Amino acid sequence: MELKRIAVLVSGSGSNLQAILDKEIEYINGKVVLVFSNIKSAYGLERARNHGVDAMSLSRKNFDSDEAYDEKLVELLKEYNVDLIVLAGYLRIITPKLIDQFENQIINIHPSLLPSFGGKGCYGIHVHEKVLERGCKVSGATVHFVDHGADTGPIILQDALEIDQFWSPEDLQKAVLEIEHRLLPEAVKLYCEDKLEIVNKRVYIKEQQ
Ligand code: GRF
Repeated sequence: MELKRIAVLVSGSGSNLQAILDKEIEYINGKVVLVFSNIKSAYGLERARNHGVDAMSLSRKNFDSDEAYDEKLVELLKEYNVDLIVLAGYLRIITPKLIDQFENQIINIHPSLLPSFGGKGCYGIHVHEKVLERGCKVSGATVHFVDHGADTGPIILQDALEIDQFWSPEDLQKAVLEIEHRLLPEAVKLYCEDKLEIVNKRVYIKEQQ
């Protein structure tokens, strides 16, 4: 099976990107060919360079609109002929300009058990603050396909953990991140092996042929 070509979009440290890079050869039937960020100084770009992967960034202030920004990004992604786009802590809203060009080829990792604590205002540490404020007993991470909503696309994988009642938001973030670093490469592997099927917005994993 031909290696799938993967682009990873980051805005921050890129530890989820690193989890994919660490596993891409022996584990994932795919290759990260591009790492992109909206933030020039994102450490995720450094991780890409250290791994010998092309790292590019575009500043939103050089564009008139989110749509114009995404049109440029689409051009770049097409240039790299990517099969899969992974949003790994990418903090920009993506517009239909991008989504419609890559239908069911964009996946996102979110640090909660969607649909809980998803959508507007639910990103980074804020997710964990809300989970603790609500007094939840479990939390976890979700990998899902990206659709036109915010964190509303078909769910691919989830995993949960029990919350220690004395945890801070930072403690919870750290514990959930460990789940993310396992779950995201697993979802990318399933995608690259063509094992994911979407029926009525539900994702089914095709068994071993
Ligand atoms: C992760 O918690 C991810 O769930 C969220 O943003 C964070 C990215 O962390 N979308 P990193 O940049 O991959 O370390």
